[in-house]
Amino acid sequence: MDRRPDDAAPLCLVTGASGYIGGRLVPALLDAGYRVRCMARSARRLRDHPWAGRVEIAEADATDPESTRRALDGVDVAYYLIHAIGGGSDFGETDRRSARTFSTAARDAGVGRLVYLGGMDPEEDPSPHLRSRAEVGRIMLDAGVPAVWLRAAVIIGSGSASFEMLRYLTERLPVMVTPRWVHSRIQPIAIRDVLHYLVASAALPARVSRGFDIGGPDVLTYAEMMRRYAAVAGLRRRLIVPVPVLSPWLSSLWVGAITPVPGRLARPLVESLRNEVICREHDIARYVPPPEEGLAGFERAVSLALRRVREADVATRWSSASVPGAPSDPLPTDPDWAGGSLYTDVRDREVAAPPDRLWRVIEGIGGERGWYSFPLAWRVRGVLDRLIGGVGLRRGRRDPRRLRIGETVDFWRVEEIEPGRLLRLRAEMRLPGLAWLELGVADAERDGRVRYTQRALFHPHGLAGHCYWWAFKPFHDRVFGGMCRGVAHAAEE
Ligand SMILES: NC(=O)c1ccc[n+]([C@@H]2O[C@H](COP(=O)([O-])OP(=O)(O)OC[C@H]3O[C@@H](n4cnc5c(N)ncnc54)[C@H](OP(=O)(O)O)[C@@H]3O)[C@@H](O)[C@H]2O)c1
Repeated sequence: MDRRPDDAAPLCLVTGASGYIGGRLVPALLDAGYRVRCMARSARRLRDHPWAGRVEIAEADATDPESTRRALDGVDVAYYLIHAIGGGSDFGETDRRSARTFSTAARDAGVGRLVYLGGMDPEEDPSPHLRSRAEVGRIMLDAGVPAVWLRAAVIIGSGSASFEMLRYLTERLPVMVTPRWVHSRIQPIAIRDVLHYLVASAALPARVSRGFDIGGPDVLTYAEMMRRYAAVAGLRRRLIVPVPVLSPWLSSLWVGAITPVPGRLARPLVESLRNEVICREHDIARYVPPPEEGLAGFERAVSLALRRVREADVATRWSSASVPGAPSDPLPTDPDWAGGSLYTDVRDREVAAPPDRLWRVIEGIGGERGWYSFPLAWRVRGVLDRLIGGVGLRRGRRDPRRLRIGETVDFWRVEEIEPGRLLRLRAEMRLPGLAWLELGVADAERDGRVRYTQRALFHPHGLAGHCYWWAFKPFHDRVFGGMCRGVAHAAEE
């Protein structure tokens, strides 16, 4: 049950609440008993968050002193989680301006504490991105308000730009021609541990005003992170071939081509990877104890981020109308490109039949009745599956009319059944990835007609998975298209 903060609880302002960190910090602060006000340039962007009804919302732009000052009125703790990276080559100037405007307004409003999360602050030749993040940190510390500047390297969590870059690069490329930066040392930290430190920073005594490095227990090169990611994700060992001539510019073009992380965001991130980003101190431990279960190591952080795919818990999200294509741990704060690849074949069709008749056809699919399209193709697929050690089509089904969760239907298993509405089957044939088939009755009956919906979903596993999807696409187009028509006709007959 949601915990409601009492009216006397300190008020925290979270900027960047529509972003990756801010969107996760809000519920963590609410759970810790704080009152929360979110600052966003557009209030609409926060409307669909599950916590939207439990927070105040202030519309403000950090470059605008007046709206920012209003947003900070009565605030005890202000979180600064804003950056302009990806917004053009003058992001440094924009970041400076926003940070100065915000910190001045915080001082004028009598805010008790500023908390800023930035990147690490390397001593030697920082990239423009890290230089700008450090500059913002210094502006916060000089604001005349007790400030905490948390410095983190790569944050491991689904939806974090740096993690998604690592995920896509590793999943899509079994052999990687990489620039030298894959050998810089990095100290990643799990998103849950970042949130632990962010929440605890709200209660630090006023005398604490300084920067803290925060990091997980592992120090790894990017190449090691890729190899370990592959191991946790169950992919084959990745071969990494460093090529010194790959400049950051060329690398970011290549990252842009291989991953869906937008090039304008990938470039500053890639440039920053030339810097060693490891903690130089761990003073935060003097003020904030580590989480009860300890700081998460790299493998644990990755497996937490990938957990939902393993448990196939993704479906709660897939069943929603707006499929974001994120099979790992999708939250409303995740950008569109987060969450790994998900291929879909989505179809629907009006059916001139009452909903219960359509549902009977759906629930009776497979086994003796078959799959309503190209029976020979389904049989061949079953035989091929048996040849490579899979279960094939022979398992059939227990009852020709009724299905229960957990039962088998040929090479599928019933994963979800909402009588009269949705049947979700999970593939158990041998595949380089995870696959689901959803058959549903969408709309209530209108004029004696109802809508049949059908979705095939495929989460590829490594390059082989992507090749499989595209190689079989023409075949799947025909089979799934035929199936959609076949189910509809069967219900109409
Ligand atoms: N993600 C990581 O891996 C990582 C790693 C280390 C440190 N950090 C630090 O964590 C902080 C938050 O990063 P993030 O990954 O959460 O960023 P993000 O997802 O890109 O979100 C950035 C947020 O800033 C807001 N914003 C930008 N300009 C604004 C302005 N002028 N006024 C008001 N809001 C503005 C955006 O709001 P709109 O919706 O209006 O655009 C958005 O909510 C940054 O300081 C970053 O350096 C992140």
